[in-house]
Amino acid sequence: TGMFTFDPGFMSTAACESAITYIDGDKGELLYRGYPIEQLATNCDFLETCYLILNGELPNAEQKADFDKQVTQHTMVNEQLQFFLRGFRRDAHPMAVLTGLVGALSAFYHDSLDITKASHRHISAIRLIAKLPTLVAMAYKYSIGQPFVYPKNDLSYTANFVRMMFATPCEDYVPNDVVVRALDRIFILHADHEQNASTSTVRLCGSSGTNPFAAIAAGVACLWGPAHGGANEACLQMLEELQAAGGVAVVGEFMEKVKDKNSGVRLMGFGHRVYKNYDPRAKLMQETCKEVLEALGLENDPLFKLAMELERIALSDPYFVQRKLYPNVDFYSGIVQRAIGIPTSLFTAIFALARTTGWIAQWNEMISDPDYKIGRPRQLFTGHETRDVKPVAQR
Ligand code: CMC
Repeated sequence: TGMFTFDPGFMSTAACESAITYIDGDKGELLYRGYPIEQLATNCDFLETCYLILNGELPNAEQKADFDKQVTQHTMVNEQLQFFLRGFRRDAHPMAVLTGLVGALSAFYHDSLDITKASHRHISAIRLIAKLPTLVAMAYKYSIGQPFVYPKNDLSYTANFVRMMFATPCEDYVPNDVVVRALDRIFILHADHEQNASTSTVRLCGSSGTNPFAAIAAGVACLWGPAHGGANEACLQMLEELQAAGGVAVVGEFMEKVKDKNSGVRLMGFGHRVYKNYDPRAKLMQETCKEVLEALGLENDPLFKLAMELERIALSDPYFVQRKLYPNVDFYSGIVQRAIGIPTSLFTAIFALARTTGWIAQWNEMISDPDYKIGRPRQLFTGHETRDVKPVAQR
């Protein structure tokens, strides 16, 4: 036994080398390929950010146009896929549906099975980034019993997603710019976050040499959990429950519960394994939240007020200060999504859509390394020593 380092939760083990994303958790700094997240969120659109994460450099105008075109050409999904989707109950959780749909894509693209060719890996990356919005919108339309809206390729990536979500098929629908910009920012902020649980899952799954659709379906499954991507959904539910119970007036009482270890209640949207300072994404999200609520005439949104109040109290409470618990990206993203009409049950699927870029870039980085190895953690065995099987009558 004593041969291995015991590090449950990977608190101190680097499982790979990576040149994609850098986080300084003490400073609250996040860089994609060296560029601060604040600058990317204010100067670039999501597809430029995808290009950067995948290729290491921001695109010039020509590269950007070419990349946008490549992605746009792959936004449709095979018509057969809808029959697979139709096998689900309409009230299925969108993440259950998405895990299935993403995995099912590998049945349509046989070139994805041979991952040794860089051209195959590239086209799989483009397909995944291009098709995720279509899949998420299909899952949503299916859940509300409306007809699917096909992609419209003269729209931007994010405007097209908004249209597939909220238009009906024959309508002349013009997506609202504020909504498009807010969602685009949500996508940028969620695009990558180095070796988080779902990305590590994609790497471990992909390390067996499986195809990228299968590896990313595993990432989607991991993201679903409430300690990870499911936190935005859990956070909004928490705010709604608090609001129903009396809103700002009952915040103090709620905080006492959060601090009581026996209650099992956590302040959702707070705390992070890596950030021991304000999550820079939370700041940008809070800004977007204000913008969106003002633009949509929802300045007095009670949930936003409630969130601000929870944040104010937490940031001055010794419990949170001592443990370095700050708002994370999910604290405000749920309020934004709710304001623009996205149902709570779809929040994590939107996160998956955005994180697909990071997953595929990290997978490709691993597979491109000629020395990569299958991931195979070891264990400290705590079970029985060798013993003999007794006949059933003697047990
Ligand atoms: N509310 C109350 N107490 C908390 C919270 C919270 N949200 N987060 C951590 N703590 C306490 C925890 O009880 C522990 O206290 P003590 O040392 O007295 O036992 C201490 O802070 C350290 O917490 P931990 O659980 O050991 O830290 P971790 O690094 O294992 O967990 C976390 C990180 C994000 C899972 C956790 O902070 C959490 O559950 N937060 C709420 C869920 C959430 O918002 N998740 C989204 C993460 S960001 C988006 C993403 O990556 O998907």
